[in-house]
Amino acid sequence: TRRVGILTAGGDSPGLNAAIRGFGKAALGHGMELIGFRDGLKGLVEDRWQELDGQALAGILTIGGTILGTSRDKPHKMVVDGEVRDMTPTIIENYERNQLDAIVCIGGGGTAKNANRLSKAGLNVIHLPKTIDNDIAHTDTSFGFSTALGIATDAVDRLHSTAHSHHRVIVVEIMGHKAGWLALGAGIAGGADIILIPEIPYSIESVAESVRGRAASGRPFSVIAIAEGARDLQGSADLAAAVALKSSATSPEAKAAADKHKASVEAAHRDNAFRVASALESATGLESRVTILGYVQRGGTPDANDRLLGTLLGSAGADLVAAGEYGVTVASQGGDAVPVPLAEVAGNLKTVPLDHPWLTAARGVGTGLGD
Ligand code: F6P
Repeated sequence: TRRVGILTAGGDSPGLNAAIRGFGKAALGHGMELIGFRDGLKGLVEDRWQELDGQALAGILTIGGTILGTSRDKPHKMVVDGEVRDMTPTIIENYERNQLDAIVCIGGGGTAKNANRLSKAGLNVIHLPKTIDNDIAHTDTSFGFSTALGIATDAVDRLHSTAHSHHRVIVVEIMGHKAGWLALGAGIAGGADIILIPEIPYSIESVAESVRGRAASGRPFSVIAIAEGARDLQGSADLAAAVALKSSATSPEAKAAADKHKASVEAAHRDNAFRVASALESATGLESRVTILGYVQRGGTPDANDRLLGTLLGSAGADLVAAGEYGVTVASQGGDAVPVPLAEVAGNLKTVPLDHPWLTAARGVGTGLGD
């Protein structure tokens, strides 16, 4: 009998329970035993887990969040008793004590990196790709994205009617980390007038120009969807320089100084939605407001796509464990579940390509992209 551990890590997203259930039911079907570690990799370090039998997996498909809890802990840099420590040896010990044949890590880009670290340390690891950001390499979509896209689209719809009624500019900040998938998708689907994403640094003058142009043609209101990672031309150049400085640093002192500098540049360019709104108010004379969508985008019941994807990738993950195939992300490709080596996924961010059809479509319908 194979004995398998499962955990959810990183920010929660709709569809996690569907994936736990999908993997779990298929694993039980293969005759495996399943235990669920609590609160991500932290639970693996602290050896906190619960048995997952058919009863525990029942009735969770439609529930948001994760029944296992989650955290953003990294195995090699975990804070224990106020100290940062490499807890990989403890993880290996607990893996062995619990007589595990494999560990399934459900999570986003950060989790893929951690899963790869554990795989390199000798554990049998399977990664299932979840994130509302949709930024995991080699998978067409990650579960969580579709639900978040629906929520953000609904928000853009609602902001339209209030912006229109008050003749205002409304800047809506949409999540997505360093990728523009969510803002671009919701911006197009919700008919945002301007969409700002990290992949295309914006010029506030050109955004103001679009807003003024709309006002001049009888539409004195605009809804602007801005990805949380979007930066203006200056911000994006400053950040690129800080990243280059960091990668060229060789001594530990230079690395620490470069890290500090990068953090300060990042801090200086945070909360861009507010900066954009106030710059537009001055430049256009239109009253401007900000809405930060925030965590509402990650909460609640998964939509049908995310339930399907979580179940598909989860059950395919159990088949891989049954076949003894490890060290992979179970990616979604062309509607199929395909194993991709973790080493190819880890640290490989999937941003929006500049020739992506969504960008062509946005331009096609006259949506400004701030460039
Ligand atoms: O990765 C999902 C995500 O919601 C991002 O869109 C966002 O940048 C981040 O998590 C927020 O992180 P936290 O949950 O740690 O506040």
